[in-house]
Amino acid sequence: MKVVVFNGSPKADRGNTHVIVSALLEGMAKAGASTENVLLAQKKINHCIGCFTCWTKTPGECVLEDDMEELLKKYMSSDIVIMASPLYVDHVTGIMKDFMDRSLPLVCPQFEMGDVGQTRHVSRYEKYPSIIWVSNCGFPEKDQFAVLQLACERDIRNNKADIIAQIYRSQGPLLTSDDPELELALNRYKELLRQAGAEIVLKRKIPADLQEELEKPLIPEDEYSKGVNASWNSDS
Ligand SMILES: Cc1cc2nc3c(=O)[nH]c(=O)nc-3n(C[C@H](O)[C@H](O)[C@H](O)COP(=O)(O)O)c2cc1C
Repeated sequence: MKVVVFNGSPKADRGNTHVIVSALLEGMAKAGASTENVLLAQKKINHCIGCFTCWTKTPGECVLEDDMEELLKKYMSSDIVIMASPLYVDHVTGIMKDFMDRSLPLVCPQFEMGDVGQTRHVSRYEKYPSIIWVSNCGFPEKDQFAVLQLACERDIRNNKADIIAQIYRSQGPLLTSDDPELELALNRYKELLRQAGAEIVLKRKIPADLQEELEKPLIPEDEYSKGVNASWNSDS
């Protein structure tokens, strides 16, 4: 089984998203998957220019010359793709949005009625990788991901992919904290992620009790907010 991560954090391998993805991949590799971690910030990805040439003159191929051709090949040759992005203004980062926009060659222009009573595009390929969404955010509550989650679930309707897991981490900046008092909580969270990675490879899903554990706050929400405010106030 081949698993490829596309991580849209501008902080690449110094980010909080990377901490989540790394532990998840460790668990997946241990369960027998081959894994690859693509840091989109290190790739050249131009904005989609909306010319639709990928639907007309060169079906399935974009006219822009950058790293997207290689990345879409990687995407389509995976069994599982992990789309990973920090929450930026309730959605994915611009880097990830460019990657998503530039995935337009993967579908055809024609319309068809989808199974939820909404029009979608016809698939270009028989089979697409299954998707896992991973995000983290600065605010403390898990409800902060409501818009992102809806957008991710809608994004897959065109290519008939299935979302097999969603991992959303509020209080994300704690993941790269060097506060020794957090070590225990962070080690525990990373172990949960390793378990989730293994479960996904072996059973293609995260069991409900493990999902619940993954969504628990790392520290109490009010304590977290006080700490964030204290840290910003001491910086200024
Ligand atoms: C431009 C910008 C927009 C952000 N928007 C949100 C937001 O809407 N909600 C939120 O909870 N955190 C928001 N954050 C905080 C990031 O999600 C948080 O710092 C996250 O840990 C960054 O992940 P990374 O280290 O992987 O890049 C934003 C940060 C930036 C820089």
